[in-house]
Amino acid sequence: MKLTGPFKQVVTLANLPLRGKLSDDQLEIIAEGGILTDQDKILKVGNYKALKSEHPEAETEDIIGEQVAIPAFVDSHTHICFGGNRANDFAMRNAGKSYLEIAESGGGIWSSVQHTRKATEEELLKTLLARIDFLLALGITTIEIKSGYGLDVENELKMLRIIKKAQESTRVTLVPTCLSAHLKPRDFEESNQEYLQYILTEILPKVKEEDLAKRVDIFIEKSAFQPEESKNFLLKAKDLGFDITVHADQFTPGSSRIAVEVGAKSADHLEATIDEDIEFLAQSETVATALPGASLGLGEKFTPARKLLDAGAIVAIASDWNPGSAPMGNLITQASILATFEKLTTAEVLAGITFRSAFALGLENRGKLEAGFKADYITFKTDNFQNILYHQGSLKCEHIYIGGVQI
Ligand code: NIG
Ligand code: FE
Repeated sequence: MKLTGPFKQVVTLANLPLRGKLSDDQLEIIAEGGILTDQDKILKVGNYKALKSEHPEAETEDIIGEQVAIPAFVDSHTHICFGGNRANDFAMRNAGKSYLEIAESGGGIWSSVQHTRKATEEELLKTLLARIDFLLALGITTIEIKSGYGLDVENELKMLRIIKKAQESTRVTLVPTCLSAHLKPRDFEESNQEYLQYILTEILPKVKEEDLAKRVDIFIEKSAFQPEESKNFLLKAKDLGFDITVHADQFTPGSSRIAVEVGAKSADHLEATIDEDIEFLAQSETVATALPGASLGLGEKFTPARKLLDAGAIVAIASDWNPGSAPMGNLITQASILATFEKLTTAEVLAGITFRSAFALGLENRGKLEAGFKADYITFKTDNFQNILYHQGSLKCEHIYIGGVQI
């Protein structure tokens, strides 16, 4: 048993509902707080002195100076296993070139596929671990990571095996997702439907056999996969036992509806979601994930997070870190900026990058400082938790605890 503190404030996020809007006076803020843990779990959070006298047997870990503790963050949507770089896409986009023109001149997802296929396993592992460390330094201790730059059996499995290998050398929880349905690769000569069938028969059984991922994703969009073929694919993937998540409504509305209909864990992007589908999402268990990093990378509008929360949806916020649409990777900066444009409360943003994004990953025991939850928490050198978002990502976190252990 270990008691850590005293903290100027502990923001527990305990007792906040899974869905809908939140006001900041719903936040539980414990002044002069302490966190009591046993092994990797939270036992109790409360006043430090009271906890110390109730549990004299607990080992103590003293916190020096003014620090605020909050649950560690969860990034529920990334593409951080990739080779190469797409700085030229970014420059061309800003110079006025269209997505199609960029793809035709050798950029786009296909260019990342070629670089990722060419990269050695050592290179991919090294750059993946560096990106995991970057996210960890922001206070993110759970990261979802997609395949989707291999797009054939050999290279999709290569990516997923590398993600599995990365898990051996980090205490961050990695949640792999098979995104072989990112795009039909240019060297696959048959139709989209045949490519989706190839994923179902050639890739997913091997993913299962080697226990490389429990989740399947697809990019439903005019330039990628069409609604009907996607729905059939997702239902079959579900039958194989996979959880589902969808890249939905990024440019064209309609696909978030499919995500809800197939019982997806989350529908991500939603920049183009229409009001009717906001209602549909709000009535479901499918998490609506905003990806402000993609809006910032592309210069496109933000996900209507305010409307989604007001309608009662479960809203998460994730980085979408990838070499093309979202190269920044700083989830805290992105979530803070989303808050200023969409008018989100501090409670809504913190919920969106903790227990709500954990729920999107099927992890229901993390993202709150509450008895029984995983003791993943972080501290900031400040006297007031509001400073975390106020500095829009420039206030760095001070200490990081994973499963109760400071790293
Ligand atoms: O989430 N929208 C599709 N996929 C990624 C972009 C991937 C890329 O451009 O490499 C996204 O934005
Ligand atoms: Fe994405």
